[in-house]
Amino acid sequence: MSDAGRKVAIVTGAARGIGRAIALALAEKGFALALVDMLEDPLRRTAEEVASRGMESWAIVADVSDYAAAHRHAAAIAARWGRIDVLVNNAAVLQPKRILEITEAEWDLGVAVNLKGTFNWCQAVAPAMLEGGAGRIINISSVSANSGPSEHAASRFAYSATKAGVLGLTRGLARELAPKISVNAVCPGPILTERTAASFAPHMERLPRQIPLGRVGTPEDIAVVVAFLATAEPLFMTGEIIDIDGGANIN
Ligand SMILES: NC(=O)c1ccc[n+]([C@@H]2O[C@H](COP(=O)([O-])OP(=O)(O)OC[C@H]3O[C@@H](n4cnc5c(N)ncnc54)[C@H](O)[C@@H]3O)[C@@H](O)[C@H]2O)c1
Repeated sequence: MSDAGRKVAIVTGAARGIGRAIALALAEKGFALALVDMLEDPLRRTAEEVASRGMESWAIVADVSDYAAAHRHAAAIAARWGRIDVLVNNAAVLQPKRILEITEAEWDLGVAVNLKGTFNWCQAVAPAMLEGGAGRIINISSVSANSGPSEHAASRFAYSATKAGVLGLTRGLARELAPKISVNAVCPGPILTERTAASFAPHMERLPRQIPLGRVGTPEDIAVVVAFLATAEPLFMTGEIIDIDGGANIN
């Protein structure tokens, strides 16, 4: 089936975990997908899963913290498919160290990937979205941006700081890019993925009891809300921050 004229979405960090689930949910919704990650083999497996859902994808091995690469790849995606409709900024690195242990290089890496990487791709896709007259950017933050990391979290304060930066970026860009482009963010609570399994393991008996909906989240719990933000018509929302945490942070 030709994908000409199909809507196009970019998902960063699409090789595994939540990014992979988002990519597959958007494929189910009929998007052609540009999949961005540094992990080549798992990224190709996500591309194969997209293909098995009948959709075209392009696996792009790239580091989101690389400004020039983001601009180069976004231009190539727009040239290949003639449009960019949705950007999901999902790629991120953990930072488990505390204030007395973290090095300058570790702090810089978190900011470079989690915050600057989000800026890089927002700026890179904005021209194509504005030219097309519409676009949706969905940034993946974390509940720990607002609360600081909980005891079971895989990351500590430096990660929370970058994710809080993503919320400020979301609110600021929502004003700046309106009315053509909506910019929203989702904040996952505890979601069981390859990277969180070890830190959640000692808490798996107690953790569900702290969550009103009674369980730890899955990548699909995030993907369904991202797919909604990517496809709902009409969408009268921008600059909005949505917690997806089973009610763990009701306020
Ligand atoms: N899992 C959770 O409990 C949880 C909670 C809150 C927020 N989040 C957020 O959800 C998102 C996905 O989390 P996950 O648990 O699936 O993590 P994950 O580590 O399984 O997936 C992140 C992906 O990003 C990729 N990535 C990392 N650095 C990159 C870079 N510089 N350039 C390109 N790709 C890069 C990784 O290779 C990986 O495929 C992240 O933004 C994370 O901060 C997760």
